[in-house]
Amino acid sequence: MTFAKRAMLALLLLPAGVVAAQAPDVSSTRGVVVSTSGIASDIGAAILAKGGNAVDAAVATGFALAVTHPSAGNIGGGGFMIVRLANGTTTTFDYREKAPLRSTRTMYLGKDGKIDRQLTATGWLAPGVPGTVRGLYMAHKKLGKLPWVDVVRPAADLATGGFRMSKDFSASLNGALTRQLNKYPSSAAAYGKPGGGAWREGDTLRLADLGRALGDIATKGPDVFYTGWIADSIDRQMRRNGGIMRRRDLAAYRAVERAPVKGTFLGHEIIGMAPPSSGGTIVIQTLNILESLGVQRFASANDPGLLHLRIEAAKRVYRDRAKWMGDPDFVTVPVAKMTSKAYASTLAREIDSTHASSAVDLGAGIVAPPVAESDETTHFSVVDGDGNAVSNTYTLEGGFGSGVVVGGAGFILNNEMGDFNKKPGETNVTGDIGTKPNLIAPGKRMLSSMAPIIVAKDGQLRLVTGSPGGRTIPNTVLSVVLGIAAFNLSARDAVDLPRLHHQWLPDNASFEPGAVDSIGLATLRKKGQSVRVGGRQGDAHSILWDAATRTAHGAADRRTPDSKASIPE
Ligand code: GLY
Repeated sequence: MTFAKRAMLALLLLPAGVVAAQAPDVSSTRGVVVSTSGIASDIGAAILAKGGNAVDAAVATGFALAVTHPSAGNIGGGGFMIVRLANGTTTTFDYREKAPLRSTRTMYLGKDGKIDRQLTATGWLAPGVPGTVRGLYMAHKKLGKLPWVDVVRPAADLATGGFRMSKDFSASLNGALTRQLNKYPSSAAAYGKPGGGAWREGDTLRLADLGRALGDIATKGPDVFYTGWIADSIDRQMRRNGGIMRRRDLAAYRAVERAPVKGTFLGHEIIGMAPPSSGGTIVIQTLNILESLGVQRFASANDPGLLHLRIEAAKRVYRDRAKWMGDPDFVTVPVAKMTSKAYASTLAREIDSTHASSAVDLGAGIVAPPVAESDETTHFSVVDGDGNAVSNTYTLEGGFGSGVVVGGAGFILNNEMGDFNKKPGETNVTGDIGTKPNLIAPGKRMLSSMAPIIVAKDGQLRLVTGSPGGRTIPNTVLSVVLGIAAFNLSARDAVDLPRLHHQWLPDNASFEPGAVDSIGLATLRKKGQSVRVGGRQGDAHSILWDAATRTAHGAADRRTPDSKASIPE
């Protein structure tokens, strides 16, 4: 089948609500950058063309997304980067936000003892101390090749010069202005349409203050953000608006280089992010369980028999997340046990292939019911011509984070404090998690679900993937990894594969349209699974590496319309 025919057929098979990305599939021996924004992917690819390596291109893409994808791309948030060099060396950079030093365990509880969700969702009390600038700088300093200024400058120029809005971008920004940005004068000034009214497709967005901040970060380095005029601006505006982040929080912030969490699955090496992300651990634990249950005997990743096992695995894995996981600088997380084959076999033996287990019973003694987690966040994947790879997921937590723009610096602050457990000890069915490992403490990082992943096989790079989507992230990533590592799909088919989510509690599974047919759905319900077919899940921009031809195959996730896989021109 020709590429055009195949692309047309794939388009017809997409889950409902999925739209076509600008350039969903590319292949190149010179490297690929895949992100949710075509402009940002192009900037990353231009850095590869200039002789930059995968880390240079990732840093450039990360800063560019802070301009072109302000709902999640950021310098006011945090995230995780995994790097695998062509020689097989792996490392990760943790630049997750931290709780400000003046934070307390109960700072989000109202007088009635209930969580005040407004405070964690929006405004000046919601942000954690941002980590992105320190994290990207740390990765670049250690592994980048081009000068820092060369990789940050394109984003600064883009913010200053402006860019044309797509239909999706203008709709998303108009929605955010109405919902939250217009509440804050600095945010309305930065993102509102000059002269008023709604933004339209084709309008140009210029972000002069952000351009100035990025320009200074490019020429002066990260200290301008953490101890210079940007830190002063944050301090001053926090004090004026009732926030608790101060200059000393920013001065004290450090990114951390951590060893990745690793596992194996059907002869593949899985390289993931260690705590404070739960993502890598969850993905490896689930793969271990499925391997133990003989995943390969099923006809496809979405065979109803396998879907049942994936749901049962998720119930146990997400239960363990609530029970044990938090910032490793504050609590001991039993990652070695959680990712061991022996523990996975114990869990696999509990699973009945004919009957659903009760998630509530599985959680006896800990009971950590659900909290709402935003679907925002963004992931990008980069591979250069030498086969060096970067998998990066970063976030503001909710779409457009706290909604608060730092006046004069033009960037949006995160609302990541909402990822902590906010009600110590409280265990109820309304959605409060009170388990200890992820309670708020000054200087602590909040637990994340972000799951950037790199897969290798026979000592060679194989797959780079990741996704946004709050707690759905590990399940989305799992779907792509299963497609590649267990069912030998192409990058396109693995990314398009309709996805499922189950997070232990609530005890419901949701499927993307097309994940299972009506007979499969009936089979699962007969086994006792509570299932519903929902909307789209995640945005997994992925790259498959063919070691034999040294070719990177980029697959943008067509669930988001502005996404693009770009190659160096
Ligand atoms: N804020 C989403 C996450 O870190 O998982």
